[in-house]
Amino acid sequence: MKKLFVANFKLYCSLTDISNWCVQSAHTGPEWAVGTTIIVCPEMIHLGFVARDLANYMFLGSQDCSVHTTGAFTGDISAAHLAEIDVFYTLIGHYERRIYHQESPELIAQKYLAAAKNGLVPIVCVAGPEDALDIFSAIKREDLTPKTVICAYEPPGSIGTGIIPDLTEIDLTCQKIRAILENSFPASELFVLYGGSVQETDAKNLSRISHIDGLLVGKASTDFQAFKKIVSFFMNRVF
Ligand code: PGA
Repeated sequence: MKKLFVANFKLYCSLTDISNWCVQSAHTGPEWAVGTTIIVCPEMIHLGFVARDLANYMFLGSQDCSVHTTGAFTGDISAAHLAEIDVFYTLIGHYERRIYHQESPELIAQKYLAAAKNGLVPIVCVAGPEDALDIFSAIKREDLTPKTVICAYEPPGSIGTGIIPDLTEIDLTCQKIRAILENSFPASELFVLYGGSVQETDAKNLSRISHIDGLLVGKASTDFQAFKKIVSFFMNRVF
C-alpha cells in the first residue's frame, strides 16, 4: 500500500511563495515520491494557480469544503466546484476549523457526505480515539460505503507547537483509531496519518511506527525542500 503525505499550507503562503514551491516541484523528478501519494493543500484562492503549475505526480487537495454544493451560500466553497478544477482530496474537520469555526462532528459528517458525493476523498482530522469515534459514528449514519478512508491523528497539543508525543503513544493511539475505522468501514482501504509539528528530524523515527500510513505536515511543508526531505526520510531514501 502506498504511503500518503499531505502538505497543508494553511494561511502561510503568499502567491510568490506558492509560485516558488510549484516551480521547485515541477523541476524535481518524481523519484523521491515513488511509492507515495502526495497531496498539496494550498489556500483556496491559490488552488487554480497550483492546479496549473504543480508537478504532475502530485495531487491537489483543499483545506475545507462546504456542506452545500450549490446555492445562495456566500463565502462557501462547493465540493462539486472543487472537483471541477481537479481537486481530488479535501481536509475535513481540521483542529483549526474546529476551534475557530466551532465545527461539530455532525457538521464534519455532512461535509464528508458533500465531499464524497462529489467525488472528493475526505481526509478527516481527529484529536484522538474518542474524537474519531464521535466523528466516524456521525459519518456512518450518512450510510456511505467509501472505497478509501483517510484519517489524520493530530494531537491538539502538537499542532504548531514543536512538541511531538512519545512514539509509543502515537503508535497506540493510531492503532485504536484504525480499529474504529475498521469497525465503521470494514470494506474500505484505510489510511491513518500522523500530523502535528512534523519536521525533517522526526520523519525517520515516525517511519518506524507500524500503525501510521503517512504524515500530514503543516508549517514545514511550506518549504518544498524540507517537505521533500520529510517524505524521503520517512520512505528511507535520501537524494
Ligand atoms: P504543523 O501543523 O505541522 O504546523 O504543526 C499540522 C497541521 O495541523 O496540519
